[in-house]
Amino acid sequence: MLPSLFVAVPLMGAGSVGAGISDTVRLSTATPSNLEGVGTAAAEGPSRWRQRTQRRRQRTEELLESISDGGLAPSLRFEDVDVPALEFPTIDWERHSAVDPMIPGKEVRGLRKRAQVEAFYHVLTGILDSIYAEESDVKTTVIDAGCGAGNLAVSIAGLLADADSIYSNRSVEVLAVDTNERALDRLSARSALLDLPPGMLRTCCADLADRELIRSAIEDSGDHQHHRAVVVSLHACGAASDMAMELAYACNDAPFVLCPCCTAKSLTARVQDGKTDQNASFQRSGATSDITYPRSSWLRSKLSERRLEKKYEVLAKVADVGLGPQTPSEQRAHQRRAKRVVELDRLMSAAERRGDGQRYYVRLARIHDARVYGKGEVLIGSPEGGAVASALAMI
Ligand SMILES: C[S@@+](CC[C@H](N)C(=O)[O-])C[C@H]1O[C@@H](n2cnc3c(N)ncnc32)[C@H](O)[C@@H]1O
Repeated sequence: MLPSLFVAVPLMGAGSVGAGISDTVRLSTATPSNLEGVGTAAAEGPSRWRQRTQRRRQRTEELLESISDGGLAPSLRFEDVDVPALEFPTIDWERHSAVDPMIPGKEVRGLRKRAQVEAFYHVLTGILDSIYAEESDVKTTVIDAGCGAGNLAVSIAGLLADADSIYSNRSVEVLAVDTNERALDRLSARSALLDLPPGMLRTCCADLADRELIRSAIEDSGDHQHHRAVVVSLHACGAASDMAMELAYACNDAPFVLCPCCTAKSLTARVQDGKTDQNASFQRSGATSDITYPRSSWLRSKLSERRLEKKYEVLAKVADVGLGPQTPSEQRAHQRRAKRVVELDRLMSAAERRGDGQRYYVRLARIHDARVYGKGEVLIGSPEGGAVASALAMI
């Protein structure tokens, strides 16, 4: 049954990549296809540059074409066109205005943020329902990995704590984790305006790679018999989304709901030289030594070992910006195709887990306006065979 805070409001569209730009306008994007070409075009003459660009585009097209669905987990689909849209009810934002992410004057962004909160809240409450159906004496910590100033964490904490919410009587807390102290200060200032119960929303300033520190922040289980965790993460850049998955594994194989961000940043290896600012964007989003790409055997086998890293790099860059130079709709189509492969790779790594790790039941969906906004894929997972996995299969 749906929580009472939902009302049936029609979904609204949002802004689009390249909106206002005619499809006849050619976009020049910094992809491997044209980076070198742009710098040398004048010296080589337009026709040679065009030929080189054409050849690179063809190779990238072939690379995308070579990746098929064979070997994917049965719960994953490999559509030609789109990742299936996640269906979720809208929230009555008038009633919940205190946690409404809408900012006057920024309606397009606001509608997108609302949809993100609605999608996460829908999946999260499905997970919580199945956790509390199994055992009532349990405390659940929802970890928002890479929470920033709290667009997701503050809204979710406010909705869960609402007096009319069935979750207000359950022992659920939100732990907002980020490396950026200033963002956490803003989050705390926002949550101070809400009348949240004590301990409902806590912050933890930590690198997502520091799983021990984050685990120690959630380990206080109070009087409860059991403690569970659920990891949510919205737009954690680069490898931070992979770290969020690793964090879920480290928290007793917790369920996860992630909406990753740009991917190419994950290819920057972290520098530990005592001089590099550990908070710099490229550093915190760069992969730690335990995270390698492709993430899954599935994608490794599709790409074959020859020039594997280079091929993955091309995919990651195209997933961020498309293949240039091209029209906006071509750009979107390539970007979405490559992003889908990158996200399937992440999910397949969870489905394939070996050793002590449990294999995960996984699903890939998208938040409805992802058709035009390139970072709307939602990665959902929970250990195979459990009650939560069964609930996720119905979502
Ligand atoms: C694009 S923002 C998204 C913030 C928020 N989730 C939202 O949707 O508004 C990405 C956030 O992830 C954080 N982040 C990136 N890498 C991280 C890491 N390794 N550890 C902790 N936080 C990280 C950044 O500091 C930033 O606040």
